[in-house]
Amino acid sequence: MSDREGATLAVAIWRGGAQGGLQRYDVPRSASQTVLDVVTYVQRQLDPTLAYRYACRVGMCGSCAMTVNGVARWTCRTHVDKVAAGGRLELRPLANLPVIRDLVCDMREFFDKWASARGRFEPQRTRRDPVECVAPDSPARRAVDAAIECIGCAVCYASCDIVAARPDYFGPAALNRAWTLVNDVRDGARTPRLAAVAGDAGCHACHTQAGCTERCPKGLAPTASIAGLKRAAARALLRGEL
Ligand code: SF4
Ligand code: SF4
Ligand code: FES
Repeated sequence: MSDREGATLAVAIWRGGAQGGLQRYDVPRSASQTVLDVVTYVQRQLDPTLAYRYACRVGMCGSCAMTVNGVARWTCRTHVDKVAAGGRLELRPLANLPVIRDLVCDMREFFDKWASARGRFEPQRTRRDPVECVAPDSPARRAVDAAIECIGCAVCYASCDIVAARPDYFGPAALNRAWTLVNDVRDGARTPRLAAVAGDAGCHACHTQAGCTERCPKGLAPTASIAGLKRAAARALLRGEL
């Protein structure tokens, strides 16, 4: 018999909108149980009105992030054993985003900021041109690889003190995306993108304390991406391009 059999987790989950509160549920422990498994158990077995969000359950879609015992995490890849000290879990929606209901945040401002940072590939070629290839082992491709695996989970955004203090700040994910595109030799909007991120709400607002990098579940380093943007924007300014 495993030491988890018969054990129970004391789970407190945020219910309602911004003015809601915590509600307590008892959830049976199981082997290899993830935090998302716990939320799913509550919704399917105890309270079908609980709202939460997930899709892939394998760390690819970025939709399952929540605040787990005070820390933003992806929940499908977070094992209860790792985070439930004393058999207790407290689950809240991500910080720095408006709450729609229960564990679901409104992600619009997060993705609107990607758009403001020109986080969309802007090709130089048309569909009639041959596909432009970047060799996998080239320095150009390695520069892009450093930050490309973002899944848009907003864990970094929820962990950033500057976003909390300055709601207009683009935040680490949008800037990390902009850096990926600044390094993409196929992209045709390098200078306008640098102009977009060099504004008041962009890279220069970052205080480089690396909360985003510490928390990113994909092991990315938005702090380094933002530092790269600062250097690139300064060089473009000196060249008279901005
Ligand atoms: S390093 Fe910059 S973007 Fe990252 S958490 Fe700190 S202030 Fe926010
Ligand atoms: S940079 Fe990391 S933490 Fe931020 S949205 Fe992308 S994957 Fe999530
Ligand atoms: S459910 Fe897709 S990343 Fe967690």
